[in-house]
Amino acid sequence: MLSTCHTPVMTATDGTGRSVDYLRISITDRCNERCLYCMPEGFADWKERDEILSFEEILRVARVAAKLGFRKFRVTGGEPLVRKSAPELIAELARIPGVESIGMTTNATRLASLARPLREAGLKTVNISLDALTPSVYRRITGGDVNAVLEGIYAAMNAGFEKVKLNMVLIRGMNENEIRPVLHFAAEHRLALRFIELMPVSLTEMLSEKNFLPAGEVMQRLAEHDTLTPLGEVRLGHGPAKYYRLEKIGVTVGFIGAITNLHFCEACNKIRLTADGKIRPCLGNHGEYDLKPALRGEGGEAAIREIFQQALAEKPPEHLFRENYQPSRIMTAIGG
Ligand code: 5AD
Ligand code: SF4
Repeated sequence: MLSTCHTPVMTATDGTGRSVDYLRISITDRCNERCLYCMPEGFADWKERDEILSFEEILRVARVAAKLGFRKFRVTGGEPLVRKSAPELIAELARIPGVESIGMTTNATRLASLARPLREAGLKTVNISLDALTPSVYRRITGGDVNAVLEGIYAAMNAGFEKVKLNMVLIRGMNENEIRPVLHFAAEHRLALRFIELMPVSLTEMLSEKNFLPAGEVMQRLAEHDTLTPLGEVRLGHGPAKYYRLEKIGVTVGFIGAITNLHFCEACNKIRLTADGKIRPCLGNHGEYDLKPALRGEGGEAAIREIFQQALAEKPPEHLFRENYQPSRIMTAIGG
């Protein structure tokens, strides 16, 4: 059908013509868990408090982004809920004209008490990391307590979010046997489950070839026992996951194959704001654009806007994960 609406809509476009309207905002580099794929063992090199953007600074950036055409925002960390007053930030974000949806990616360990205030503040969706259901396996991967996570998931389901999704990072030999239990858990609670390929975004030992489990292999295994119906263009989020319905189990699964899907970056619509105020146009490229001088010095909104536009224009066409990419910052500092 032809559109009859001619109202010009402001959209931000990157240097390769992709429209970019999704900003992921990391509000802290800290975390109360220690996922093997994210944090090097014994990591304690946290940023100083004054290096981290204040909520007021984050909101100034978000306002500029919204004026440039950004519509979808996701609050991440580290673990976003270790930062105090997260619901207040969400409430302020929700008030910005142009902001259409706000999501959060969380490990859910603190969601039991925060789900309701976050929902009331205007948070629409939550993505929860659940790499295992067996308590010892969960602890081995994350250092945390899976029961706290389950409490968080139930609280999120009761708080009335538009969507609650589960994320499972695939780690060969570590959580392969958890795939089935997590699938059944997702089916039982009617939650979509996304499988995420391990990406070399951190400097931890375990990010090696031998722990890599391709999304395609998991898909094949699932297809041996069930029918996978592709959901085509259906997008349950704003990201690059490909979705299927597993008919027998009765669950929607997504695959985020950043490494094996050669088309992964083609429709990339996002950029990141790091907790210390840098625009990171691509997770798998080193480029960063520091907003702090503009935020803390002269120049005001125009200076922020200029840096934003430069970051957009120079957003790389694709990640370098297949080119022996060596990360320079750990994931928690970039924002998951
Ligand atoms: N590879 C893939 N996903 C990762 N995440 C963090 N580190 C990695 C990695 N190395 C994702 C996890 C987590 C979210 C915060 O970021 O899915 O749920
Ligand atoms: Fe924390 Fe998330 Fe990193 Fe795990 S992946 S250590 S939950 S920031």
